[in-house]
Amino acid sequence: MTTEAIDLDTLSEQIAGCTKCGLAASRTNAVPGSGNPDAEIVFIGEGPGFNEDKQGLPFVGAAGKFLDELLASINLSRKDVYICNVVKCRPPENRDPQSDEIDACTPWLTQQLGLINPRMIVTLGRFSMSRYFPRASISRIHGQAQVIDGVLVVPMYHPAAALHQGSLRKTIMEDFQRLPALLEQAMAENAEPPEPEPIQMQLL
Ligand code: URA
Repeated sequence: MTTEAIDLDTLSEQIAGCTKCGLAASRTNAVPGSGNPDAEIVFIGEGPGFNEDKQGLPFVGAAGKFLDELLASINLSRKDVYICNVVKCRPPENRDPQSDEIDACTPWLTQQLGLINPRMIVTLGRFSMSRYFPRASISRIHGQAQVIDGVLVVPMYHPAAALHQGSLRKTIMEDFQRLPALLEQAMAENAEPPEPEPIQMQLL
């Protein structure tokens, strides 16, 4: 088998035509993801909802509006980051994605992360958290960064949780405020060593 190098747009086209699980039958559009293909931060949500399914774009409903506010609070916008989901097609009636659907979709997410190669991954909600922290509870580990396979992973509450439970709004806002310093730290730790100064010949 030969493997060809592809870019993120080509991968998105492949995801848009995916029929690897039952969600393909009920979707209007697959939602591969959107944003900067060279992003330093990737946000991973759960799965598309009603509006995302209609538009083929992630986080365009109420939770997305709050995500935009959270990004703006740390001077970022959607064009600075990449936003995608664990499953790329809407589970009917917004039910939780099933494990066979997550398993079928996981290779897409893995390829996306491989192409973007971010310094930091922010998981939004428990389904994306489980990819990195399988047995963890979000209430215990939210906001606590951990290096996993060389990338800083920060688990966060899902923005929709803050819409349903007002007290979480402050928590998620506070967790977001820590992201710039964490990113700076991740960049410093992974920084390429500086080029050595050219050796000057001393003329005697
Ligand atoms: N919730 C998610 O997890 N993802 C979206 O794209 C929209 C809402």
